[in-house]
Amino acid sequence: MSINKKEYAVGWQSWHENYRNSLPLRARLEEVSQQVTDAINAIESPRVHVLSLCSGDGRDLLKVLLSGNTNKAVDATLIELDPILVEQGREAFAEHGFSDFVQFRCADATLFSSYQDLPKAELVMVCGVFGNVRANHVERLIFSLKGFCSPGARVVWTRSLNEFDDGEAAAQRIRCCFKDTGFREAAFKRTPEGTFAVGSLIYEGEQERLPSTGQMFEFSAFWDVH
Ligand SMILES: C[S@@+](CC[C@H](N)C(=O)[O-])C[C@H]1O[C@@H](n2cnc3c(N)ncnc32)[C@H](O)[C@@H]1O
Repeated sequence: MSINKKEYAVGWQSWHENYRNSLPLRARLEEVSQQVTDAINAIESPRVHVLSLCSGDGRDLLKVLLSGNTNKAVDATLIELDPILVEQGREAFAEHGFSDFVQFRCADATLFSSYQDLPKAELVMVCGVFGNVRANHVERLIFSLKGFCSPGARVVWTRSLNEFDDGEAAAQRIRCCFKDTGFREAAFKRTPEGTFAVGSLIYEGEQERLPSTGQMFEFSAFWDVH
């Protein structure tokens, strides 16, 4: 099935509206916020740069910053393709006085060129991404994440555990792939209804150079045929 760009964008904006009423999505937000908070507090450096891929409006990070439960100075770059979500996110962070530390980049997160000039991150968020990545691109994506990480960096990721695309098996493959790529697992949880997996890793490899061009992975929304 092919869809045009406008329908695609509206699709992700209405996906975000589900945060209001969907208990599983709210449980995922709780778990992501908890793991992001734990990751920030565990990082040794006094300053933490967060990078969020396909960040949406960034409400997960905003929730963490508003909670006041972190003990570090945080700055962040959020990469999101949908300009409306970027605008909504910018407004929400500005409302709470975080604009000086949090910048949205309205860009294609699948392209290495979108990350040029960014510092290495102490925390990389990959939430709501893996369920939209073709199985044969998962490995490429995880391998590429090394290029964003400073040594000892953390990664927080999610994967829906839908039966229709064998989410549980996909989540287990993601865990194995992280392990084989130089990451050690720090946490792995399923939300209470078993709808989502949320995990955290620690990068134990060396600092790697990020390619300046090329595509890291293809983002293919779940309504695509794949
Ligand atoms: C499932 S949502 C997750 C949003 C957010 N990370 C969260 O967990 O609430 C996926 C997001 O990826 C964005 N997206 C899709 N393709 C993208 C691309 N190529 N580059 C950047 N963002 C993209 C969508 O607009 C959407 O906001």
